[in-house]
Amino acid sequence: MMIRCFLVSYLAWISAAVANPLTMEMDQAQPDAKELQQAREQLQQPLPQPVAEPLFVPPFHKRMDEPSPPATLCRSCHQQAPHRNDPRKRAFLNMHGRHIACETCHWLPEGKKLDYGWVKVLGSDHPDGMIAPSFEGEPVLIRETDSWARKLKQEWEQADDALKAEIKARLHYPLQAKGPGCGACHDDEASLLDFRALGYKPERARELELDPTARFIERTEPVSADEPVRRIHIRDLLE
Ligand code: HEC
Ligand code: HEC
Ligand code: HEC
Repeated sequence: MMIRCFLVSYLAWISAAVANPLTMEMDQAQPDAKELQQAREQLQQPLPQPVAEPLFVPPFHKRMDEPSPPATLCRSCHQQAPHRNDPRKRAFLNMHGRHIACETCHWLPEGKKLDYGWVKVLGSDHPDGMIAPSFEGEPVLIRETDSWARKLKQEWEQADDALKAEIKARLHYPLQAKGPGCGACHDDEASLLDFRALGYKPERARELELDPTARFIERTEPVSADEPVRRIHIRDLLE
């Protein structure tokens, strides 16, 4: 009896110690009617996969095969290029997705202090893995191979349309539909990421903080949807 009690509390302690705060929020999520309806519509009309049209003149530079994506939960549904809406930013955002976990930009909960570090992930082409958040020492990145993700995948495969919509809404409930602006990280005063602590050499960290492309994109953010392309003046380039 004593042993059983001990075992039960030991197992409870282990599961509490390894609980991922993001999957906990997903499990406890209570999407409202509007969010469920949005999920149903999204699943009924899936976005078309982008296709590369054959070019009239064969390209001089040879295209590489697409590298296989890192084995994370997000990637198991979102294929190679999840960002498509904003033509100014999408190439940069998709490029960032190779070394920066989706959770870094899409899970920014209020009132929780997150730390950011490298986490090993199968399929990542960076020797240190990916930059991902952790909360109170617990990693937040959800890998495809985690038992929580495997269970979810099974549930998803067996689900009917109504349950799929519910799962989609639950998974995305704690997430931000839009990530932070480029200046959230490429900033020398208040960067979300401490590039030096992440192991970047001081001069490389400085370069990333002051990255001119990120600053330019941020500075020329369209003022309104009516004017999606903001006119660029020569002085914008000189600033
Ligand atoms: C079970 C499949 C599935 C998984 C896993 C998944 N997504 Fe999605 N996600 C979708 C679908 C379906 C949509 C609807 C639009 C689309 O098809 O891209 C979507 C939409 C989104 C959107 C746009 C806003 C919204 O809610 O519609 C964001 C941002 C997003 N996902 C981020 C993520 C991140 C980050 C992860 C990993 C933590 C993730 N997704 C995991 C299926 C998934
Ligand atoms: C460097 C930060 C960053 C990372 C990393 C990131 N996102 Fe995003 N994501 C954004 C921003 C910013 C937007 C809003 C774009 C805009 O302005 O329209 C966005 C929008 C989206 C959307 C809405 C559709 C669209 O075309 O904008 C989806 C879906 C999405 N992200 C999924 C993902 C997934 C899946 C990953 C991981 C593979 C990921 N994101 C990684 C910053 C990021
Ligand atoms: C979550 C933090 C974060 C956000 C948000 C972010 N970046 Fe970055 N960015 C990084 C990191 C980290 C690197 C370095 C990646 C590496 O070492 O592979 C980087 C690299 C870059 C580089 C390559 C610079 C070089 O010298 O190699 C460019 C260009 C860039 N980002 C532009 C952007 C733009 C444009 C946006 C907005 C659409 C953006 N970034 C948003 C973190 C971020």
